[in-house]
Amino acid sequence: MSRPAAGAELFGVRFRNPVLLAAGTCGFGREVSEVIDLDALGGLVTKSVTLEPRHGNPAPRVAEFGAGMINSIGLANPGVDAVLTGPLPWLAAHVRRARVWVSVAGHTVGEYVELVRRIDGAEGFVGFELNLSCPNDSRLGGRAFSLDREALDEVVRRCREVTERPLLAKLAPNDPDLPDTARTAVAAGADGLTLINTLPGRVLDPDAGSARIGAGQGGVSGPALRPVGVQAVYAVARAVDVPIVGVGGILRAEHALEYLRAGASLVQMGTASFAAPRAAERVAERLMRRPDLPAPWGAGPGGVPGGPSTAAAGLDTVSSTQESA
Ligand SMILES: Cc1cc2nc3c(=O)[nH]c(=O)nc-3n(C[C@H](O)[C@H](O)[C@H](O)COP(=O)(O)O)c2cc1C
Repeated sequence: MSRPAAGAELFGVRFRNPVLLAAGTCGFGREVSEVIDLDALGGLVTKSVTLEPRHGNPAPRVAEFGAGMINSIGLANPGVDAVLTGPLPWLAAHVRRARVWVSVAGHTVGEYVELVRRIDGAEGFVGFELNLSCPNDSRLGGRAFSLDREALDEVVRRCREVTERPLLAKLAPNDPDLPDTARTAVAAGADGLTLINTLPGRVLDPDAGSARIGAGQGGVSGPALRPVGVQAVYAVARAVDVPIVGVGGILRAEHALEYLRAGASLVQMGTASFAAPRAAERVAERLMRRPDLPAPWGAGPGGVPGGPSTAAAGLDTVSSTQESA
């Protein structure tokens, strides 16, 4: 019988386990650091950073429904200037082993490029997650970047030109041809894909007919999203040869395992942390005790034949203050 995995090398760095905190659900790490041992995790993704500070959408911004939650935070964040002087130096000083990804979002290609260019020189993070799929925010005058082939190609290609760090493209579930979208992102230079963002939805008060969140429309997350995310990973893992980060509805180790068996190399957890802040730590610990994890975590059954490559993305030059575990 194979032994439990000791870690895996992906994107040119070593991850101690496959579990990351998802963008927008752990602030910039510091906000949750009193409760969660961040270095017990594989990593975390910051909330999406924009050029200007954003105050976000009208309250209430989140509501629960039977099978998950709906949110319309509207990418509230302090803007890149404040992030470069507060949260990123904190992460560089306090997080040693968890791999940090900075999520960026904008309304134009130029905004993404500017964000990546400005943040690139900071220390303490591995790479960028391009949020190209927020249902509460979109390209100026158009659909989300990931739902428009030309816009997707341009934004990834232009960001690729200004950084050597790994780029994850985060894609949307409401995509009529996700494998083709994934191929476009990879051809444009994405080193990996994060699947999936929240699914557009609406929850109404049945008596009054009014929406349960201030913005009306929001993004659905939590258990209802899990089969959608697993299917997205399964389909895309058979279309591209880059590592996939699976996210959506993971509450327990078995759920994370579904994603790994579908072809994900890493997973992220978001909504679960709201109900149980240490859920991700628990899932990481339980997963790493299993002797049967698929590649790249173990040689057990269930890996995708000819699936995602675990090769480093040629990123030896990435500067990071993070210890290589
Ligand atoms: C309150 C909240 C805020 C979020 N903010 C962001 C964000 O800033 N950027 C982003 O890319 N995704 C954001 N997401 C989406 C999550 O990263 C994740 O893709 C989604 O919630 C599905 O995972 P889950 O079911 O484990 O929550 C947010 C989700 C929630 C619930």
